[in-house]
Amino acid sequence: MKVLQLQPLTADLLPAVLELDRSSLGKLWNADGYLREIDSPNSDLLIFQLPQMGAATPAIAALGCAWAILEECHITILAVQPDLQRQGLGQAMLVALLQAAQQRQLERATLEVRVSNTTAIALYQKFGFREAGRRRRYYQDTGEDALVMWRGGIHHPEFPAVLREWQEMARDRLRQSGWGIAEWNIDDAQL
Ligand SMILES: CC(C)(COP(=O)(O)OP(=O)(O)OC[C@H]1O[C@@H](n2cnc3c(N)ncnc32)[C@H](O)[C@@H]1OP(=O)(O)O)[C@@H](O)C(=O)NCCC(=O)NCCS
Repeated sequence: MKVLQLQPLTADLLPAVLELDRSSLGKLWNADGYLREIDSPNSDLLIFQLPQMGAATPAIAALGCAWAILEECHITILAVQPDLQRQGLGQAMLVALLQAAQQRQLERATLEVRVSNTTAIALYQKFGFREAGRRRRYYQDTGEDALVMWRGGIHHPEFPAVLREWQEMARDRLRQSGWGIAEWNIDDAQL
């Protein structure tokens, strides 16, 4: 089993995160953008780091970012390395972001997604996100609309139990693809 490390992004991993940003997000943010997030107390910027092979630069399998704005969690990035998609990493990262939001005592989560991104939309729907509207011609590169999705109930007393179930489900799915996660413990997570 290959063991992934769930951890906040640190500046020494900038080259690896820029590589993932390029290959999976088509260059969304530059180095300054990631450094700003690392420094921001209102951001949760998490990665699954791949086990290090020899002296090579450590690579990042998946990346997630969320901003805490008042009582809302704004998910700004969810990305998995192209050759590691469809193995459960995306859903595990989404669960980790929602855990971080719950620990910050936020009330609801929101995000924008391209209307054509049916993969991501299916993933968000699986975790209770619902379409709440559209931003017309939101993406400048293609003129495409953004779907605005919301998930409430993050502050409800039953949500930690829901998160625990999702974490187990995500862990099982990863295990089927040969992945383990080191120290993913919702009760003492230091995210
Ligand atoms: C969207 C993304 C993060 C999903 O990550 P992933 O690791 O491939 O997804 P998972 O393997 O965790 O899949 C979780 C669920 O998502 C849905 N899903 C994932 N890939 C899918 C596909 N190709 N078709 C339909 N549903 C899909 C399914 O519901 C799946 O659950 P299942 O495996 O039990 O059927 C990944 O495809 C990605 O990085 N895409 C490029 C960047 C991007 O578009 N990010 C989202 C921006 S809002």
